[in-house]
Amino acid sequence: MIRDLQNPVVLITGASMGIGEACARAFGRRGARLILTARSAEALERVRQAVAPAEAQVLPADLGRPEDVAALAERALACWGRVDVLVNNAGVGIYKPCWELEPQQARTMMEVNFFAPLELMRRLIPPMRRQGGGTIVNVSSIAGQVALPWLTLYSASKAALNFLADGVRIELRGSGVRIVSVCPGFVKTGFPQHALGGQMPPALATRRRFAITAEECADAIVRGVDRGSRTVVTPRIGWALVWLARVFPKTLDGILARMRGPAPE
Ligand SMILES: NC(=O)c1ccc[n+]([C@@H]2O[C@H](COP(=O)([O-])OP(=O)(O)OC[C@H]3O[C@@H](n4cnc5c(N)ncnc54)[C@H](OP(=O)(O)O)[C@@H]3O)[C@@H](O)[C@H]2O)c1
Repeated sequence: MIRDLQNPVVLITGASMGIGEACARAFGRRGARLILTARSAEALERVRQAVAPAEAQVLPADLGRPEDVAALAERALACWGRVDVLVNNAGVGIYKPCWELEPQQARTMMEVNFFAPLELMRRLIPPMRRQGGGTIVNVSSIAGQVALPWLTLYSASKAALNFLADGVRIELRGSGVRIVSVCPGFVKTGFPQHALGGQMPPALATRRRFAITAEECADAIVRGVDRGSRTVVTPRIGWALVWLARVFPKTLDGILARMRGPAPE
């Protein structure tokens, strides 16, 4: 899709580091005009300089605050008068069982992982329809396909994002607006350290042999946008997990329980 556009305008959330930063570089290399957002203005400025000569605007916002999300959509449209690709990438995890959570932690995570993407879609789909097309990329997770018992609440937030995409995609059929769900497995970023609570179980930290780099993930995202893919699972071995969950769910439960280890007291 971006192949057909001269200098498409790409809004990327969570662009200050990790997968979002890699997306900024990858879309920037394709001649996109970038709108970069996250909380850290300083880190966004560093990314803006790194993507030069691609044109980039920096719009800091806290996606945990609904008023920031609404203002972000308006400010993004004001940059170049349109948004062609929205990459809903910002996200946070919680490595705690639900009975140990502070309710506010769960609400903040849902704001960032689900309600902020929903609000950006709500505000940007109408102008995309009026301009004749656009692409929404929701960076979900393999955890949105298979509930991971060390990231249960996070899995629920990403499953909600996938279901939102699945329904809206059909609602938008024929409008020229596409929805791509991206479901990465392990990606080598600071994501585990940035969690709102808890820690990755120690047994898992050593099992990251299928981990990909943020750059590999970003390349898969750009390819998914180009092809108008429905769902991108990266690395592709993740499809085996999705299949196992659908066909032999009890077997997978046992495997995941062994990977998780005993639940904390
Ligand atoms: N890494 C993995 O293994 C993995 C696997 C599957 C899916 N994912 C998904 O990929 C996406 C990117 O994750 P990552 O691995 O790149 O993680 P990361 O390195 O921790 O980056 C997260 C990004 O989100 C931004 N962010 C966090 N909270 C925010 C808030 N309240 N408001 C605005 N921006 C906020 C951060 O910027 P600031 O701190 O500057 O705000 C940062 O740019 C997430 O949706 C994550 O769920 C990651």
